[in-house]
Amino acid sequence: MKGVVLAGGTGSRLYPLTKITNKHLLPIFDKPMIYYPIQTLVEAGITDLLIVTGGRNSGDFLRLLANGKQFGLKHINYTYQEGEGGIAEALGLAEHFVDGDKVCVILGDNIIEGSIRSAVEDFRRQEKGAKILLKEVHDAERFGVAEIAGDSIVGIEEKPKSPKSNLAVTGIYMYDGSVFDKTRTLKPSARGELEITDVNNAYIGEGSMSFNYLEGWWTDAGTFDSLLRAANLVRDTHPKHGRSPVLAEVEGE
Ligand code: G1P
Repeated sequence: MKGVVLAGGTGSRLYPLTKITNKHLLPIFDKPMIYYPIQTLVEAGITDLLIVTGGRNSGDFLRLLANGKQFGLKHINYTYQEGEGGIAEALGLAEHFVDGDKVCVILGDNIIEGSIRSAVEDFRRQEKGAKILLKEVHDAERFGVAEIAGDSIVGIEEKPKSPKSNLAVTGIYMYDGSVFDKTRTLKPSARGELEITDVNNAYIGEGSMSFNYLEGWWTDAGTFDSLLRAANLVRDTHPKHGRSPVLAEVEGE
């Protein structure tokens, strides 16, 4: 399974922190934000990675991450998203890299306490379709929100005013090779972006979307409050997350 970390966009909700640098290079406690999603994928056994970045600071990603030695990797792939066309557009840039394989996509500002390893193993065994990870939250209107009926997911609404559940769709998505046929058919939403929620609803429409509940805490870090919350959560669970085995090799470098 391939791994894609989406780290483009202009980070407008964090302006002026993002006037000079990319959101995903900002610190979350003791590490740059993008370290966390990379660590999440590597810990789950996904080591063939593509970073999709953009904006004026794309060169900084290469300088920071190089070939991924600090994660035990030998090589990292990079590509560039022009403008702010949304998560699904950024994913579309990964088609050549994914090359018909399965792919686990993670948003560069999504930080978790635990592991996605068992969900990834489940998806390796899933014949086709997609899998998302859900998390109970108190502020569901900020996210994609899942509607569940019995054992099935029947729909996702993007940032609904009146959420049908308190289950946020986290920014960790697993897809089969048909995902790029789906991203090609999307039309921009009201915010002018190609929405990942539309991709997920296409899988739900086909009856091929599964879901797991994510264990441990989860946060995004794209607003001032969530950026602070993320740093506090990482610090409070330190050293479990802040000094994970994945990074242990290069401590002190
Ligand atoms: C995006 C997705 C949303 C998801 C969230 C997770 O929101 O559109 O469905 O719940 O990531 O972090 P955005 O951060 O683009 O507003």
